[in-house]
Amino acid sequence: MSETAALAELAKRRGFFFASNGAYGGTAGFYTYGPEGAALKRNLEDAWRDLFVRELGNVELEAPTVMPEAVFEASGHLDGFDDMIVECAECGATHRADHLVEDAVADIEDAEALGTERVGELVAEHDIACPSCGAALAEEPIEAFNLMFGTNIGPGSASPGYLRPETAQGIFVEFPRLKEYARNQLPFGVAQIGRAYRNEISPRRALVRVREFTQAELEHFIDPERDAPPLERIADVEVPLYSASAQNAADGGVETHTVRSALEAGLLESEWVAYYLGRSMAFYERIGIDMDRFRYRQHLAGERAHYAADCWDAETELGGNWIEVTGFAYRSDYDLSKHGEHSEDSFTLFRQYDEPKTLDGGSYTIPVEATGFDVEERTEAGEHIIPHVVEPSFGVDRLVYSVLIHALETDTVDGEERSFLELPASMAPTTVAVFPLMTKDGLDDRARSIAGRLRAEGFEVSYDDTGNIGRRYRRQDEVGTPYCVTVDYETQEDDTVTIRERDSTAQTRVSTAELPEAIRRLVDGETLSAL
Ligand code: GAP
Repeated sequence: MSETAALAELAKRRGFFFASNGAYGGTAGFYTYGPEGAALKRNLEDAWRDLFVRELGNVELEAPTVMPEAVFEASGHLDGFDDMIVECAECGATHRADHLVEDAVADIEDAEALGTERVGELVAEHDIACPSCGAALAEEPIEAFNLMFGTNIGPGSASPGYLRPETAQGIFVEFPRLKEYARNQLPFGVAQIGRAYRNEISPRRALVRVREFTQAELEHFIDPERDAPPLERIADVEVPLYSASAQNAADGGVETHTVRSALEAGLLESEWVAYYLGRSMAFYERIGIDMDRFRYRQHLAGERAHYAADCWDAETELGGNWIEVTGFAYRSDYDLSKHGEHSEDSFTLFRQYDEPKTLDGGSYTIPVEATGFDVEERTEAGEHIIPHVVEPSFGVDRLVYSVLIHALETDTVDGEERSFLELPASMAPTTVAVFPLMTKDGLDDRARSIAGRLRAEGFEVSYDDTGNIGRRYRRQDEVGTPYCVTVDYETQEDDTVTIRERDSTAQTRVSTAELPEAIRRLVDGETLSAL
């Protein structure tokens, strides 16, 4: 079984995620997180908050998911947020034309960048057929399909609205209020974790391409002439870069550079994008991405979004495919300029000059008395500028999916094959599972009381007394619980319990008094033998 198929099976059986509305035949492109998946997603979002909001001194907001049409007229989404669709004349199925080309032509990884016309030619040249019924698609037109979900705000159709296709717009439209909150001082960062909606033509690969998903976005507003990122903090971080030129070269591949050397070599154009590529490495490592299956890929010329000046994607390898999990874009002043042009509000910010400037009123050659103009000398303290935006935009669902696929392992324990999730302890839905050896002689009461104490200490704890111990270990292994604690008859004699480690399956005994501290040390990275 492929790793993606194995994960899909485990995810459904163990309550990580499954297709939504199964009772009604399912709805393509919508997934429900079960209890284990919801907990893992929450842990991942908390790690993101920690690194991109709290540690950087940024702030977080929560905006509505429905926004009026005027917002998307201004942002460009109404005109430009399209994918290429081809409809089969035989069975009526619709498909993403660029994906059909990528699937059919071995050396084309990003057909979207080629444009509609070329994709149409490739469909014909390669005799691409409808995946649903097998009919030829060569004669079918390739059209642009807008991905936004439309709705009406209130009864009637007088006030059209859309479900936001990116959380970013909820931040941009509030810039006039946010700049005041930031006391009109650049730079400042505003983050948001929330739902985004795209009416994808062909949702696929489980959580990879869905119609409702979660983004964690940071919009960093900067003065392009004055603000520089704190590069010294990440200059020595190594980043695996798959540059546009490497993608275009026959023998090009990923090259690992420090952020500093990549900037010096001109591989990274924007210092701000470079800063976030470096900073994000710690995040991917913390959440459990296998860094041997990770790279940063630069956008090719035809691939950049309508707003992006410089763009890199973080990609993870899943089942042999490279999948974008984060987009890093230098959005320049595109968004704030557009909202400034389309609305009545002010999307500029006052930049104070270091020294006041005296303006002499300009030159003239006719006597001023003859014109009736006044010539004045003015002293200006500053000028109004439109801030630029640097945006790291993380797809939470794709990250959850990548973490799960990269964590899925199998080995042999006591002659039996075992599958387990090698999740970092801080990501695992449950940190410690507590079992009584038997549900008699007071062992279960003791185990419940230990579980309660660990909960009170702040751990995510699960109590399980069903089935034999071996089965209980397997259950916890499959949901990635790093530690299991067993209460047995020895506990009643000497007040000790066994702690069993998920990955090595090694066990040791500790006293119940020391148990919370022992778990804490293990979560912080100590090994069982050090206890
Ligand atoms: N504000 C910028 C923006 O939205 P994007 O590259 O279109 O940029 C950012 O999206 C991230 O959102 C992607 O890197 C991806 O992880 C996630 N994403 C986009 N479309 C998605 C979909 N249909 N299903 C799941 N995740 C998606």
